[in-house]
Amino acid sequence: MTLTLNPRAEALVISGIRQFFNQLVDYPDAINLTIGQPDFPTPEAVKRAGMDAIAANKTSYSHNAGLIELRQEVASFFSDSYGLAYDPQTEIIITNGASEALDSVLRTIIEKGDEVIIPAPCYAGYVPLVELNGGKAVLLDISDTGLVPDPKRLEAAITDKTKAVLFNFPSNPTGVSLNKEETEALVKVLKEHEIFVIADEIYSENVFEGEHISFACYSEIKDRTFLVHGLSKSHSMTGWRMGFLLGPERYTKHILKVHMYNTVCASLPSQHAAIEALRNNRFVPDEMNAAYKMRRDYVYGKLVEMGFDVVKPTGAFYIFPSIEKFGMSSFDFATRLLKEGGVAAVPGSAFTEHGEGFLRISYAYAMPTLELAMERIANWLKTVQVTERG
Ligand SMILES: Cc1ncc(COP(=O)(O)O)c(C=O)c1O
Repeated sequence: MTLTLNPRAEALVISGIRQFFNQLVDYPDAINLTIGQPDFPTPEAVKRAGMDAIAANKTSYSHNAGLIELRQEVASFFSDSYGLAYDPQTEIIITNGASEALDSVLRTIIEKGDEVIIPAPCYAGYVPLVELNGGKAVLLDISDTGLVPDPKRLEAAITDKTKAVLFNFPSNPTGVSLNKEETEALVKVLKEHEIFVIADEIYSENVFEGEHISFACYSEIKDRTFLVHGLSKSHSMTGWRMGFLLGPERYTKHILKVHMYNTVCASLPSQHAAIEALRNNRFVPDEMNAAYKMRRDYVYGKLVEMGFDVVKPTGAFYIFPSIEKFGMSSFDFATRLLKEGGVAAVPGSAFTEHGEGFLRISYAYAMPTLELAMERIANWLKTVQVTERG
């Protein structure tokens, strides 16, 4: 007898990133440029705060929304960095990574059949979460608009079933962030429609040109915007699972119930580490950014030299060259690059169909690794025929 399962869960597919990463074990000499986490350790003082918390038996549950001291630090961080006012008592929830913040928001707002518009190529986690929650992901193609959402296209994609638009800038997988004009043009469309805005700004601290503009800074939409953030990227804390959700009280009070019945609260030692990260270690992302910028310049320069068409990224730690002119699918390109060229990168198709024709390279690796990888890609490309289109 086979028991039936939730068809939505059965229909989920393993992330293309993981599929690729799993292949790596068969190629132990390959250089791995697939991973989306900083290659720096968690800052010493932050680690110590976590260890001290464990030593002092701070290992219990906390308030469902998280320690009030941490929520106050989060409020102070967003106030200082972006001029944003959130009430730590009612408008901030500490979650198990940004992932849980996204899931809790989607579970709270999606009714069966609701549409969530997502500029794509996008982070591989979005579509599964929307679908698992009974929604429909409507992809807004940005592959032919310089990897930036076109406001007219956004307007055209909004229907009476649209419940939310989910933005992620700086973006995984493209590394592209939005400037003020681009953000404002989108806000102009959003303010005319009664829909939620979910802003996954987990890479906001990793911007190396211009300044990060948060969607939450626009008063026209702030009262229906959820800001998703966390320390995974800014403080190299992916394994600590520290996420933040900020939004208006009339919605967060319901999200808190979803969060509470799912996870009770975020890990307490991690919350103590997060207090230290935000109280005394706000400078840490700047140090990482100096390294990312150098690597970005190097990798971008090399890719251009090799003949790739590529948008210069301004944030996160990914670069997303087009591989269209090589006349292969992104999966075939990445597979051959791994097997013949000895470099692992993620096929763009892992980031929805609008990522087809691209390759995601993570440059969260030390310079010598990147130098060797670029040399290998250049050598391998000499064996690959370019079949320019048009
Ligand atoms: C765009 C984006 N959102 C969310 C996440 C998940 O973050 P966390 O590890 O804090 O759950 C990631 C992780 O790679 C990401 O790239």
